[in-house]
Amino acid sequence: MITLSIIKADTGGFVGHTAVHPDMIAEARHRVEHMVDSELLIDGHVASCGDDMSLIMTHQHGPDARLIHSFAWDTFQATTHIAQRLGLYGAGQDLLSDAFSGNLRGMGPGYAELEFEERPSEPVICFLADKTEPGAWNLPLYKMFADPFNTAGLVIDAKMHAGFEFEVYDLFEEKRIFFDCPADLYDLLMFIGAPARYVVHGVRSKTLDQTAAATSTQRLSLIAGKYVGKDDPVMIVRCQSGLPAVGEALEPFSFSFTVGGAMRGSHHAPLMPVSAEDSHPARFDGPPRVVALGFQVHEGRLIGPRDLFADPSFDEARRQANHAMDYLRRHGPFEPHRLPLEDLEYTTMPQLAARLADRWSPMTTALAEQEAPITP
Ligand code: 13P
Ligand code: 13P
Ligand code: MG
Ligand code: MG
Repeated sequence: MITLSIIKADTGGFVGHTAVHPDMIAEARHRVEHMVDSELLIDGHVASCGDDMSLIMTHQHGPDARLIHSFAWDTFQATTHIAQRLGLYGAGQDLLSDAFSGNLRGMGPGYAELEFEERPSEPVICFLADKTEPGAWNLPLYKMFADPFNTAGLVIDAKMHAGFEFEVYDLFEEKRIFFDCPADLYDLLMFIGAPARYVVHGVRSKTLDQTAAATSTQRLSLIAGKYVGKDDPVMIVRCQSGLPAVGEALEPFSFSFTVGGAMRGSHHAPLMPVSAEDSHPARFDGPPRVVALGFQVHEGRLIGPRDLFADPSFDEARRQANHAMDYLRRHGPFEPHRLPLEDLEYTTMPQLAARLADRWSPMTTALAEQEAPITP
């Protein structure tokens, strides 16, 4: 069995929240190479999207492995020190704890991990996003694994026809549920259409009895109880031979749908599919970006990446994202551009509410005064 792990963190932005500094990438690459040489990892690749750095790793230690998670933690500590030395923005932003204790759950970094028996040819896509939240994968996962208008294989591939099972997390109450699709399609949509709370954690092929997709489902703001930056998510999707074709896994991103998490973690904005080179959200810290790195996994080695959105056929989606961004920006501080109050990553509302508390009075009194008969 092989495990593919993507572990990611924002350990400092260059400049502001737009990108990762090359020195930080170089440090992480150096450490990954060292771990490949010493055989903790079979292979590794360091990538970034906006200000988030991802360690893409193959190994045989399984998900939630102490060795792998502590390696990632140490690497993020090292890149944090570089960020501090260079005065980069939000150095160590996603590292919520001072000490590592077993695995990364609840410690800040996000991770998606998938363990599988490698097929003779194993195409996978690593999706990395910035300025959004884990629920951003709900819509594309639904399209990839449940919508025949997106995925022709659901209709015409005998190995896909029975459908897929979706595992969904309730991030507020920390519980999970499985939906058996297509039978449970409408039930599924009722929940995952609310992506700030319900997040697809994984998808499984019923015919192959194999996990096909895994997402990172941490929500930093919930973990920390205060704003510490968003939980810019990652996702792994395995493709072909009874799973969506690579083109079917990419197709949902030809529509630049709107996601939560832009500018101060507090705005809806369109998700723009871009090449790795263009993954530097600058305009209003956005629009949010998604990068798709394709690999053939062979004997655990990562053959690639292919930069899959570096393709003119996604130009229309990028244009659409710019139009949608213009449209939403004109709402300024109004919903639905600004997130609803309960979803704001940080907010002045509690202080404001306290300060204005005694300026509020019951509406009924005001109305009664207005309607009181005028005495002659
Ligand atoms: P597979 O069934 O071999 O994955 O081929 C489907 C395909 O790639 C067509 O686009
Ligand atoms: P990051 O979560 O990518 O650090 O972005 C913070 C932010 O809100 C930028 O506006
Ligand atoms: Mg940041
Ligand atoms: Mg980020």
